Amino acid sequence: MSLVRIAFAMFTLASFAGAADRDAHSFANPEHVRVKHVALDVDVDFDKQVIRGTAVLTVERTSKDHKQPLVLDTRGLTISAVDWRVDQGIYWKAKFDLGKPDPVLGQALTVQLPAEATTVRVAYATGPNATALQWLTPAQTAGKKRPLLFTQSQAIDARSWVPLQDTPGVRITYTATVRTPKDLLAVMSAGNDPAAKRTGAYTFAMTQPIPSYLMALAVGDLDFRPLSKRTGVYAEPSVVNKAATEFADLEEMVQACEKLYGPYRWERYDVLVMPPSFPFGGMENPRLTFASPTILAGDKSLVALLAHELAHSWSGNLVSNATWRDFWLNEGFTVYLERRIMEAVYGKARADAEAVLGRRSLDRELADLPKPDQVLHVDLTGRPPVDGLTDVPYEKGALFLKHLEAVYGRERFDRFLSGYFAHFSFRSITTAQFKAYLAEHLLKDDPAKAARAKVDEWLTQPGLPADAPSPSAAALETVEAHAKAFAADKVKAAELPGKAWTAQEWLHFLTSLPAPLTKGRLRALDEAFHLTQSGNSEVLFAWLMLAVKYRYDPADERLEAFLTEQGRRKFLKPLYEELAKTPAGKERALAIYKKARPTYHPVSVETIDVVVGWGKR
Ligand code: BES
Ligand code: ZN
Repeated sequence: MSLVRIAFAMFTLASFAGAADRDAHSFANPEHVRVKHVALDVDVDFDKQVIRGTAVLTVERTSKDHKQPLVLDTRGLTISAVDWRVDQGIYWKAKFDLGKPDPVLGQALTVQLPAEATTVRVAYATGPNATALQWLTPAQTAGKKRPLLFTQSQAIDARSWVPLQDTPGVRITYTATVRTPKDLLAVMSAGNDPAAKRTGAYTFAMTQPIPSYLMALAVGDLDFRPLSKRTGVYAEPSVVNKAATEFADLEEMVQACEKLYGPYRWERYDVLVMPPSFPFGGMENPRLTFASPTILAGDKSLVALLAHELAHSWSGNLVSNATWRDFWLNEGFTVYLERRIMEAVYGKARADAEAVLGRRSLDRELADLPKPDQVLHVDLTGRPPVDGLTDVPYEKGALFLKHLEAVYGRERFDRFLSGYFAHFSFRSITTAQFKAYLAEHLLKDDPAKAARAKVDEWLTQPGLPADAPSPSAAALETVEAHAKAFAADKVKAAELPGKAWTAQEWLHFLTSLPAPLTKGRLRALDEAFHLTQSGNSEVLFAWLMLAVKYRYDPADERLEAFLTEQGRRKFLKPLYEELAKTPAGKERALAIYKKARPTYHPVSVETIDVVVGWGKR
């Protein structure tokens, strides 16, 4: 072979190896030009429902091919000008081109740049259907007096409010100047000053490098309550005290995680309680978790979600998935850490119960998930990343780590995890990088244990290995026995010890009731325990699933209220799906959805459109 041929073969091999790790959900070209910093300067215009301004990007050449343009991701943005400059010099007009819109990815913004350019300024405005934004009218807020805006950038929606390289493989620092109506407060996933006065002009800095999906902004009638020196809670005035009581253990949780896996690296940790239409339970925006108000149960029973979002400060935000194929690195690790925090703060019984609920949920999901989607290192090419939002990255991912813990012992495994967070801190990594680090730092010295670890089976095969951990919790076994006895009419509802059950016990009871059930059984339960009136969103959700399935119509009104008053995708999707199983149910679903759709976030709308047959797929 000639030298040229050898060089060529090596080149193709290298680019082929790279292709497997390439982010299938971004147009960006960080392998040639990489964005390092974003300086936002924007107006939040509630009247027109538009964010408008400039994004000044600091860029760096990462290859020798200096003719390559800068490629950014956008979706629905109007670009009015693009300029470049060298350092602090004067700006020059840049040639730019918006590519053909792709239904999943949006549009590439290609900017021609001279080799010496260091800074690119994009003047832009968001579009009417910006997927990251939800503009709430005053009527849609708790206070009813002022409007509210929030962003949800994960997974690939940052591009709908900022033109940038929207791939988790690229980390940026950012600053922002945000102008709003004077009576509203703006907060971001950056430094927030708890003593900030409402001025209508706010500045922020995020000095640690983060992936774009962690950029976040909320603007509204928000108050603050401190919980400790470095933690606190933001919410609308009528919600903030309730939230502060519910989240009283937050500082203890931070300390528990620090003790296990090393210092909290982000300075403050605050939680913003969102309006009920927030499409997720929580979102780990750095320094400022966004949380659904549906976790305010009044008895701290749903605070595992806080432990979860907090844990992302290590798994996800400090060490991030480099592409959405590697999502399990974020969520599997986080569920594992979440349960460790819950165990440290609330005891082993609580953590075990939550692990059992997680395993059950996973088993049910695996039962009807296509094989390729049961794999941790999943292929999502051509599909939106939210298609990967199943129990697999979460619960199967966590089980894999629990399995490693079982093989190596807790102490050894904790040492490994601490080392992992320290080694990869402020970096984005692929599953292959994790695997290599695992081989070197855990598997290497003991081939027998390494064989038991079954790393490849866990990462690349569907289903679960035969020796996958099977969590158990004594309290839930008791509840399960009650469920069977009750369903078989051996125990009357009034004889069940349900008044003393925790939320987790109730959830296990409701999901353990063998099918089929009669309406009469449900009525008896409802009369004894008033489940239709439950103030716990998770218990209510599990109950309403049964009510729909067995046509228990006394819950109809509550079902409609639940579907209209909150917008969590995790609650909406299964309920609409269950309704859509019968013609009458489908009719109800459509009637409710018609009313509720304008109040849902774009992420939930996209999902439910498909469920009721209004959407594409
Ligand atoms: N980061 C996720 C939410 C997310 C994932 C949003 C992918 C968009 C795309 C967050 O940390 C999360 O996992 N939330 C869960 C709660 C958790 C306790 C399982 C949720 O919202 O239900
Ligand atoms: Zn998560």
